[in-house]
Amino acid sequence: MIDALNFADLRRSARRTLPRAIFEYIDRGTEDESGMAHNRRAFEQKRIAPRILQGASPRSTSTQLFGKTLQIPIVVAPTACAGLVWYKGEIALAKAAAQAGIAFCAATEAITCVEEIAANSRANLWFQLYLWEHQAMSEALVERARQSGAETLVLTVDTPVYANREYNVRNGMGMPFKYSVRNTLDVMCHPHWLAKVLGRYMINGGAPSFANYPQAYRQTILGGGSKQRLEHTPQLTWAHVARLREIWKGNLVLKGIVRADDALRAIDHGVDGVVVSNHGARNLDSAVAPIDALPAIVEAAAGRLTVLMDSNIQRGSDIFKALALGAQAVMVGRAFLYGTAMGGEAGALHTARMLRRELDLTMGNSGARNIVDIDGGLMAP
Ligand SMILES: Cc1cc2nc3c(=O)[nH]c(=O)nc-3n(C[C@H](O)[C@H](O)[C@H](O)COP(=O)(O)O)c2cc1C
Repeated sequence: MIDALNFADLRRSARRTLPRAIFEYIDRGTEDESGMAHNRRAFEQKRIAPRILQGASPRSTSTQLFGKTLQIPIVVAPTACAGLVWYKGEIALAKAAAQAGIAFCAATEAITCVEEIAANSRANLWFQLYLWEHQAMSEALVERARQSGAETLVLTVDTPVYANREYNVRNGMGMPFKYSVRNTLDVMCHPHWLAKVLGRYMINGGAPSFANYPQAYRQTILGGGSKQRLEHTPQLTWAHVARLREIWKGNLVLKGIVRADDALRAIDHGVDGVVVSNHGARNLDSAVAPIDALPAIVEAAAGRLTVLMDSNIQRGSDIFKALALGAQAVMVGRAFLYGTAMGGEAGALHTARMLRRELDLTMGNSGARNIVDIDGGLMAP
């Protein structure tokens, strides 16, 4: 039974279930981790000024995004390695998203390939792209995502170089995993994970790897497979956005912008949407909090972009604040990974329902009966 009442409960349970290297990979930030606390403080400092006597029933959390209905204004954020918290965790997440009526964004660095996710779920499927140094290989992957039914392509633009995550070095976390006595013992101390996640991969075809990567570049987490590496392009520029705009006819979204002038350039490049994000404070510890950057971006976009927001959302009231400050929907990462670690599809669905309930209660107590009622007028000046 999944009895988590809130984000903190989900996190506590995931911490118990997962080996330390995997839990910390999900949970932590980068360098001194001031960015995570800063993102949280920025949410806390924004206060709602509820409008009274509006009648609180009926209420609905449903909305439209890129012409499709979402029952909650949430897209499951793309996360590398969701398949390490649960056997084929990406499929569990995608199925839960379909059931909850929200969208699911598959990641380039997923453990389950985009075709398999699409074949095993009815999700409103998006695809996140890290551009590799071999452009032709990236374009082939984009085509695979299209053929799998993805209508929205999310180019991640806030990771031009890899983040400085020292805890991953200490924990040996990476592709491949670096063994030490400490981390091997730690894995042994999580027999449930060993049997239900790693064990199932070993029985069903082998150790996990980045399944979207071309076979010649696919290394497994245990160090098997190819030794050839396929790096993200170190030259990511607006020219790549222009090229993607040429080849991708669906919705094109840039993920990881925090500046109004970048939003304007995105519009000039024919981009359809942006995710105002600092990657959950995982990349640049000193980056501005997305919730603080959001209003200026919404103003600059002036309705010409679909604006989403993410980073350290833990409560429905955080979602409410993002919508009130102009986002049309949010992405949520960690909360869904903790839920999936707790109970696969059921755990991820539990997370969606928990966030929906919290958003709904915040709406009810703030004088908003529908998502369109949530606007800047409900925020304290
Ligand atoms: C374990 C983990 C892996 C992630 N992998 C990716 C990724 O491969 N591509 C990407 O664009 N963002 C990635 N992100 C960032 C998320 O898409 C999202 O921006 C962030 O998690 C939002 O913050 P939250 O997790 O606090 O909700 C990852 C986040 C986590 C926690």
